[in-house]
Amino acid sequence: MATTLSEVYGDTPLQLKHIVPLDFDSIHDLPDSHVWTEPVDLLSGKRICQSQMDESNVPIVDLAAPNALELVGDACRKWGMFQVMNHGVPSSSVGDAESHVRRLFALPAEQKLKALRSPGGATGYGVARISPFFSKLMWHEGFTIMGSAVEHAKVLWPQDYEEFCNAMEDYQKQMKSLAHKILVLILKSLEAKDQETLVSAASVHKSEGALQLNSYPCCPNHNQAVGLAPHTDSLLLTILHQNDTEGLQVFRENSGWITVPPVSEALVVNIGDLLHIVSNGEFRTAYHRVVPNETRHRFTMAFFYGPQGDSVVAPLSSLGSPRYRSVTVKEYLSIKNKHLEKAIPLLKTG
Ligand code: OGA
Ligand code: NI
Repeated sequence: MATTLSEVYGDTPLQLKHIVPLDFDSIHDLPDSHVWTEPVDLLSGKRICQSQMDESNVPIVDLAAPNALELVGDACRKWGMFQVMNHGVPSSSVGDAESHVRRLFALPAEQKLKALRSPGGATGYGVARISPFFSKLMWHEGFTIMGSAVEHAKVLWPQDYEEFCNAMEDYQKQMKSLAHKILVLILKSLEAKDQETLVSAASVHKSEGALQLNSYPCCPNHNQAVGLAPHTDSLLLTILHQNDTEGLQVFRENSGWITVPPVSEALVVNIGDLLHIVSNGEFRTAYHRVVPNETRHRFTMAFFYGPQGDSVVAPLSSLGSPRYRSVTVKEYLSIKNKHLEKAIPLLKTG
């Protein structure tokens, strides 16, 4: 039987401090556990002046435009990230899901803890999965869903869990179909031999997804805190909805950290490690982070899209001699779990 992503993620049991988020409602000052004393480390890269920023914003692609294919390919090469408009996801579906996300994170801490991710589990309430790699904690709480949310939703709302589950199910369905559409576009832009492109596109039909709901409460002393530490996403691609509050930044060589502004009706797409491998290194895997906000509570929904655990991922052969060895999704995630950013270099050939 195919290995599901949730089985793969559940493979590494974690300590409780890397699962339980802070009770943000009870906190008025930034606790020492959340003060990042090496902001320079995180701010690696130069500060950017406004004029540079104007020329270098994350591209916005109208998926209905005739040049969408070209723009997407260009954005994947230069940024590993772009925003999409005219993506076909009804705004009611996004709005509905977002309102449930707000309702979820507004629950009292002790209620949310009832849906805590188990140490060997993949879904439920908890801190970011990259937490064990950092000595300080992040100003963030999350809730992970893979397929049905019913198990945890029943604990949170015994009488009326269905509405939440339906909204999440609908949103995941929308995301899966959009992710597939975008993936096909991206593969086409690689100009791989037609045959091969089609085979790859067909095999990703079997791709699955995980929905990560994120909450970044208003943060005292926000300049010393980190919402989500710098990382790349592991799977093929991520589609992110952010509410009207900034926080996401992408790292660009020679420019530094660049804010990805929320654009009404747009969704952010970022390339993950597996697509970097498939493209034989042509596409960037977006290195990104989240900075917290002092006065606004930020909510996001990230949909991670990737093949099942047993699928083999390798550079498309028409893209020249492979710079990376082939790897199963399961093996890649376990390497990443141990080595984080060094996972991709470890796969380099020669
Ligand atoms: C993530 C992520 C960005 C955001 O969940 O992996 O990068 O803005 N989220 O919440
Ligand atoms: Ni991410």
